[in-house]
Amino acid sequence: MNMVIAPSLLAADFGRLARETDRVDRSGADWLHLDIMDGHFVPNISFGPAVVKTLRPLTKFFFDVHLMCSRPQILIEPFAQAGANQIILHVELGDQAIVPLMWKIRSLGRKVGLAVNPPTSISLVQPYLDQIDELLVMTVNPGFGGQGFIHETLPKIQQVYAWRQERKLNYRIGVDGGVDFATARDCAQAGADTFVSGTALFKQHSLGAAVRKLRKIVETHDRARTEAPAACTLETQA
Ligand code: DX5
Ligand code: ZN
Repeated sequence: MNMVIAPSLLAADFGRLARETDRVDRSGADWLHLDIMDGHFVPNISFGPAVVKTLRPLTKFFFDVHLMCSRPQILIEPFAQAGANQIILHVELGDQAIVPLMWKIRSLGRKVGLAVNPPTSISLVQPYLDQIDELLVMTVNPGFGGQGFIHETLPKIQQVYAWRQERKLNYRIGVDGGVDFATARDCAQAGADTFVSGTALFKQHSLGAAVRKLRKIVETHDRARTEAPAACTLETQA
């Protein structure tokens, strides 16, 4: 699976979002991650569909919309219309909410992501693995950029990687929160292939150079790549 670098707009200069979007567009990254916070599911508020709609004509980038919201049912259509390519829900919403919302996202022709918070058991995502395009492991408690990476989340990445192999599925494995050059390497080694990064990328003078550096690190430590030669050798010997 190719590695995806997704700068998070939350760390951008909100006084110049159009210019910041253009900066991401020219950086060589793959996706733009858009954090939607409602002041209820998380203790912070970010921005809504009107902002996403304003940014949409500025770039062809894949818009990865992460809904940290208690009532996503009222937001899915507005964000789909605003130009979201993927909409990520939280598993903490509970089964009764998730299943119909996933169908809703699909019916609008958008990709479906599922996020899991650090304190939540990873077993909760199991029933949905064959219905999603991305499993997003939260590596901080969501709500704010610039927090420290929670290392205890690494076994979750290993677990969802193992499930993907066992069940021959192809969802992406994303990480979000405190992802910098060092923690991204740990995540890649654990099996992540999609890297959301806000503060670590935007604080660099050259976003392009930072994206290139991050990509090189995660490609070098890509679990799939480092494990593949061993498997080939065994096959050749057999
Ligand atoms: C956390 C958000 C993240 C955030 C990551 O609540 O979901 O996407 O923007 O920011 P950094 O990389 O600064 O931790
Ligand atoms: Zn996010």
